[in-house]
Amino acid sequence: KIEGQLRPQLLSEYIGQEKAKKTLSIYIEAAKARGEALDHVLFYGPPGLGKTTLAGIIANEMGVNMKITSGPAIEKPGEMAAILNGLQEHDVLFVDEIHRLNRQVEEVLYPAMEDYAIDIMIGKGPGARSVRLNLPKFTLVGATTRAGMLTAPLRDRFGVVHHLELYNEEELKTIILRSAHVLGVEIEEEGAMELARRSRGTPRLANRLLKRVRDFAQVKYDGVITKEVANYALDLLDVDKFGLDHIDRNILITMIEKFQGGPVGLETLAASISEDAGTLEDVYEPYLLKNGFIQRTPRGRVVTELAYQHLGIPGEV
Ligand code: ADE
Repeated sequence: KIEGQLRPQLLSEYIGQEKAKKTLSIYIEAAKARGEALDHVLFYGPPGLGKTTLAGIIANEMGVNMKITSGPAIEKPGEMAAILNGLQEHDVLFVDEIHRLNRQVEEVLYPAMEDYAIDIMIGKGPGARSVRLNLPKFTLVGATTRAGMLTAPLRDRFGVVHHLELYNEEELKTIILRSAHVLGVEIEEEGAMELARRSRGTPRLANRLLKRVRDFAQVKYDGVITKEVANYALDLLDVDKFGLDHIDRNILITMIEKFQGGPVGLETLAASISEDAGTLEDVYEPYLLKNGFIQRTPRGRVVTELAYQHLGIPGEV
């Protein structure tokens, strides 16, 4: 329940992603005025930036219900057909990790998205025939870490496509202050700023760290999250001054120690830290790139001088 309360319910309560917010508010208002379902929306970007939250806000602002599922959860075309058929007029269907839908299930979505219909095979063998079943008009909200992982036919059927960006420290601080208020925990500006700095641009992580820091404030201090408590707790939680966790640091250290700082290819690097290449690229790289710890070159990834400095490892120069 509390978890749910941390999620904003309205676009006006949602912090950051200004471009997505501005355009979505117009599309929502227009669809409502026409009495239509909102066009299908695709969100892509690193995890924890608010794709599910935005889908919930869309449903709430449209005044409809949202059904949540995910790519790996739907194994058979019939399951997708049943979910679609169970929707009410203008409902939102949120499909997380939509790039992981299998081929046959994905094909059910094509006519569903385009014509609000599904084609069902009746019978088997030579007597089999296809029957078209109309669906309620609905909005598919898809989420994925990278738009490039979708097949072209699926991607092309989304009328609205938004890339979600990592949040800046001001935005994270505002989110943390809001969450602290919702949780009923006292926090000082400086404490919120320290948390914001160390949340690697990700509200989900900010909220998770906030809850852990609150525990320290409660047990070890007088309940107030100050800069001191935040620092103390975050050091223990192994989140460093730049918000890098041990996996981020392992990536940088591996690049330096095993590959002389690079260039090293994505697959090679992924294998040497026992991570999947997709996860490395979609989950870890965006923050390291954005903050100038690594760079992408045509020959592979290289670490920057900043990474050497931050890790306290003498550079090549
Ligand atoms: N909680 C998590 N993400 C949020 C956001 N973008 N705005 C407000 N509260 C949030």
